[in-house]
Amino acid sequence: GKNVGILAMEIYTPRTYISQSKLEEHSGVSQGRYTLGLGQEAMAVTGDAEDVNSMALTVTHALLEKYKIDPNTVGRLEVGTETLVDKSKSTKTVLMDLFPNNTDIEGATVINACYVRCLDGRYAIVVAVDIATYARGPARPTCGAGAVAVLVGRNSPLALVDPRERATHASNVYDFFKPDHSVEYPVVDGALSQVCYYRALEDCYTKFCNKVDALNGVDQSSQGGSKDGDHFDADSADYFVFHAPYNKLVQKSYGRMHFVDARRKHARKLEGKNLFAEEKKAEEDDESDSPIAKEYLTKPIEDTYSDKALEGTLKNVSKSSYNTRLTDANAASKIVGNTYTASVFFGLASLVDKVGSRGELTSGKTAVVFSYGSGALATMYRLHIRDPTQSANETIGQGRIFTIDEMVKNLNIDQRLASREQVHPQELDLALETRARMHRGGAPYSPVYPTNGRMFPGTYYLNGIDSKWRRSYSRV
Ligand code: ACO
Repeated sequence: GKNVGILAMEIYTPRTYISQSKLEEHSGVSQGRYTLGLGQEAMAVTGDAEDVNSMALTVTHALLEKYKIDPNTVGRLEVGTETLVDKSKSTKTVLMDLFPNNTDIEGATVINACYVRCLDGRYAIVVAVDIATYARGPARPTCGAGAVAVLVGRNSPLALVDPRERATHASNVYDFFKPDHSVEYPVVDGALSQVCYYRALEDCYTKFCNKVDALNGVDQSSQGGSKDGDHFDADSADYFVFHAPYNKLVQKSYGRMHFVDARRKHARKLEGKNLFAEEKKAEEDDESDSPIAKEYLTKPIEDTYSDKALEGTLKNVSKSSYNTRLTDANAASKIVGNTYTASVFFGLASLVDKVGSRGELTSGKTAVVFSYGSGALATMYRLHIRDPTQSANETIGQGRIFTIDEMVKNLNIDQRLASREQVHPQELDLALETRARMHRGGAPYSPVYPTNGRMFPGTYYLNGIDSKWRRSYSRV
């Protein structure tokens, strides 16, 4: 009943970006391949003057500054990243420079998903940061870079009201991984990674629906007293926030959720064998109205992943719901690209920024969040929008209240992203070459990528790596 959740959020993405349509032209691929095929408009790009440590410093410093958080009131700091700069010394330890009088901070850097509990009386900060890079080829347009810092505490306006509203999918798959320490790039099986994402989503979503239904006392078979409309489905939440490698995958995945809904509904119907004849008839009529052909409702789900006809149907079925429930969360990632561990929080920030600035993120609404990390670990959970001024006695620290409005004011994402500088698509290759040189360059190393006038004020950058492999940073 402490309403632990998100109190404040800050995002960071490099100031320089590349247009996807210019990249299509530059790469000599067919027009529309990245913009329509992947649904992406632009992509953040950065060279060897930034690494995940500098980006984490940038975003965490800005969070503390904008929200005037006393570093001594923080008791836990967790960092999530998969762009490792060191196999032992965690990025969390680098961030300790921002907490000069406070060494009593729990937490470390974790690879893959991270869950955070906040300590009684003190705040927790979660930082997710990544520079997404790929070797030349079809995955190149799905690069990106970004960081998010989230302040976690009690009496939050975006709360995990009931931690039981959460479902996980963990499995051992080789869809995307980084076995070669001599390169920054992953080994990726693009087609497999899409299917792994769908499987994780469908598994999390099915378990999540069952849990929410159980918590609401809704029966899973038609034999019980529950009506079909009582069940949780893809239209039950006000918003969804998905891990977003590229926009098209999110659109298709949301279609798959509607597919799961139709299959669950059908399964409930089959369970309800003792229904009276006319009720059964009514349900059959209802199902025959469904645009999803009946054969798909019982087919092994594994046989449906590459079915283009089904994909088209699901797109139509989910389109308008997608527009109201997911477009706002995806606005930022469409022009920033993939940010790996930060992606889902970027989506959440985008949602708060867009919907909140219209005054529509009102108390009582819900957002279902789906995070996915290749390998694979995925979790789905539900956040509730609430008014923290109604329960000020739950607040920790000096009784400070954090609101959606304050987040909206500080995030200001539209304006910040609009003030970025578009650079020539050839900079993607150049930037990645400098990063590759840094990666295998050893020590000492001095970044060659320009910083002057190229970074937002307040951005940290890598000064260099000294002969003893120690990295130092400065702030613009
Ligand atoms: N105009 C319009 N659409 C086009 C055009 C064009 N000129 N050219 C191609 N397309 C469409 C294709 O028809 C296809 O559409 P579909 O998705 O409806 O089938 C789409 O563009 C993608 O094209 P493909 O040939 O299927 O795939 P591509 O070779 O472009 O690679 C991929 C895409 C696999 C996503 C690649 O970029 C990749 O490997 N990225 C990294 C892995 C990734 O992000 N995986 C996601 C989950 S795991 C994670 O988060 C890392």
